[in-house]
This record gives sequence, structure tokens and C-alpha cells, in this order.
Amino acid sequence: MTPPFIITIDGPAGSGKGTLARALAAHLGFDHLDTGKIYRRVGYDLLKAGQDPHHEPSALIAANRLTSSLTPEMLSDPALRDDAAGNAGSVVASMPSVRAALLEAQRQFARRATKGAVLDGRDCGTVICPEAPVKFFVIARPDVRARRRVDELSAMGLPAVYDDVLKDILARDERDIHRPIAPLKPAPDAILLDTSDISAEAVFNRALSDIARFL
Ligand code: C5P
Repeated sequence: MTPPFIITIDGPAGSGKGTLARALAAHLGFDHLDTGKIYRRVGYDLLKAGQDPHHEPSALIAANRLTSSLTPEMLSDPALRDDAAGNAGSVVASMPSVRAALLEAQRQFARRATKGAVLDGRDCGTVICPEAPVKFFVIARPDVRARRRVDELSAMGLPAVYDDVLKDILARDERDIHRPIAPLKPAPDAILLDTSDISAEAVFNRALSDIARFL
């Protein structure tokens, strides 16, 4: 049996990696995993239980609980899109024990796909699936990413102040890039896509032509 074709897409918050991942998965008929949602879910579960996301033993219990009962519905809760869940997710994501607890579930998702899988996050190409034949690293300038996030929040009817969103994005970048474990960085063979000044459609077409060389 041919193993599933795996595409990884990593990059910072608001770079457009999620949009690209969803579009590629739909077009190619591949399964899609937004790995950030897993960290968000762990952070959100802690907040909901009134626990501190900075407390590693509690975060590890929440991570283990999640992997033992993970369903797609658990990652589709709209509350996970909230910045509170994003920040709590970013905190638990810097904990080695939490990352180790969540690693195998992500690898299994990719291995069990029937046709192929698209995984997006921060370490999909470097840690989760370094063997993936196609790896993208998607970037965009911080001001562009903040503007996109403000538009997204406004579209959801949520209040958003540009300066606060930008500050939040920069703080999250700082944590993701400088953490000692699984820091945000491109795999040596990743294809770099800068989405700052091009449309989502143009990014998709460019990615698709890169993928065509491997299929
Ligand atoms: O991508 P998203 O903003 O949903 O991710 C939430 C947080 O989860 C990120 O700030 C990042 O710290 C963490 N994350 C991670 N590794 C991944 C995906 C997300 O550390 N593969």
C-alpha cells in the first residue's frame, strides 16, 4: 500500500498557513490537521477548569486527557479561535512534557490518512513529519498579519484594536521563535512563501505548482 502523501505548512500566527492548508487539503482530497488547535484546546481546557496554563503538571494532565479521547469535534469548538485560547495554547506549547504528550497523536494522524494529509503549525516539518516530501514555511510581515487578524475578529463581530493585536502577535512570535523546544523555524528543505503582498489565491496556485513537482 502506498503511504499517505504528507504536506507540512509551518509559519507564525496570521501568516496565512491555515488558509493555504485548508485550500490544499480540499483541492487534493487530503485530511487536514490544524495542530495549533490541539495546543489551543489544552490551554482552553485549563482556563475553563480555572487552572493556570503556566502550571506544567496541570497542563500535562490536560494534554494526556485530550489525546486519550481526541475527536475532530473537540478541535472545531469556535471558542478555540479566541485570543485567550491562543495565548494559553502558546504557553502550554513551550512545555517539553506537553509537546511530548501530543507528538504521537499528530504523527498518527498523518500516517493513518488514506490519500494524504496536510498538517499546519510551527514544527510540522521539523519535528512531527520531517520525512514529508513537501514542506512549506509561510511568512508575512507583522503589520500585515495584525491587519488580517483585526479583519478576522471584526468579521466575527468581536472587538479588535490594531495596536493590541500587533503587540500580541509580536509577543507570540517571540515565544514561538525563542523557546528551546521545537522553536518556530523552517526545515532545511522547506519552500518559503511570503504572503505579505499576494492574494490567498496566488499563494495557493504557487503552492500547488510546487506540489506538482512531487506528485
Ligand atoms: O497556530 P495557532 O495560533 O492556532 O497556534 C496556537 C499556539 O500553539 C501557537 O502560538 C504556538 O505557540 C503553538 N503551536 C506550536 N506548535 C504547533 C502549532 C501551534 O507550538 N505545531
